[in-house]
Amino acid sequence: MIHIKTEHEIELMRESCRIVKETLEFVGRNIHAGMTTKQVDELVYRYITSCGATPSSLGYGGFPASSCVSVNEVVVHGIPSDRVILDGDIVSVDITAEKDGFNGDAARTFLIGNVSEEKRELVKVTEECFFKAIEGLQAGVPLYDIGYAVQTHAESHGYGVVRALVGHGIGRDMHEDPSVPNYGKKGTGIRLKAGMTICIEPMINMGTYKVNFDKRDGWTVTTADGKPAAHYENTVLIKEDGVEILTL
Ligand code: MF3
Ligand code: CO
Ligand code: CO
Repeated sequence: MIHIKTEHEIELMRESCRIVKETLEFVGRNIHAGMTTKQVDELVYRYITSCGATPSSLGYGGFPASSCVSVNEVVVHGIPSDRVILDGDIVSVDITAEKDGFNGDAARTFLIGNVSEEKRELVKVTEECFFKAIEGLQAGVPLYDIGYAVQTHAESHGYGVVRALVGHGIGRDMHEDPSVPNYGKKGTGIRLKAGMTICIEPMINMGTYKVNFDKRDGWTVTTADGKPAAHYENTVLIKEDGVEILTL
């Protein structure tokens, strides 16, 4: 069931999304080589709680941290650990925060120090995939046009589009209907309606689209070929005449 948000609920979403955006900006100012991914998570926890919000990831399905910190070949759901971030790494930080009952969710892939040209290109194209997806997006547009736009752009650069994980609706719950795949056929799927809030989150691999799920920790998703991946996410409000990017 897809929840259409009221104007009041949208106001609350704007606030939790603003906190997520600011947290990511705070991380961007402070992340550096030599830090562990756990130290990144500490920054996230500190910032979110200082805003009077709660990190939704903490305890979600047993997830043990306030953020997902995914380095290089880790696509998403990296568990903050003692892994040291190195010069040349790309590090995706994915954050969900809840305030007054509503969630905001966004991710950025940060470049650490001297990053190779091919990794920079991957990160840039992944961000572009999001912006291609919201071009012309508004009430009445078929849902899978989003995935079509992401897939077309990523594959035109020879990249793999992750299929095993998708974007999603968001609101009182971090994950609501509908699923928002990063692949799909233009002109198909339900028609979007004003008041829907969804997370559009391209997960793009430099090589194969195939991924592995870590059997030991139950979370970490890595590329099947060990090549790098990037992730970019925003929470988006669908309006009659366009979209509002709530986490930007
Ligand atoms: N923020 C993620 C998403 O984009 C989900 C986090 S999973 C969790 O959907 F377990 F870390 F919470
Ligand atoms: Co997220
Ligand atoms: Co999400």
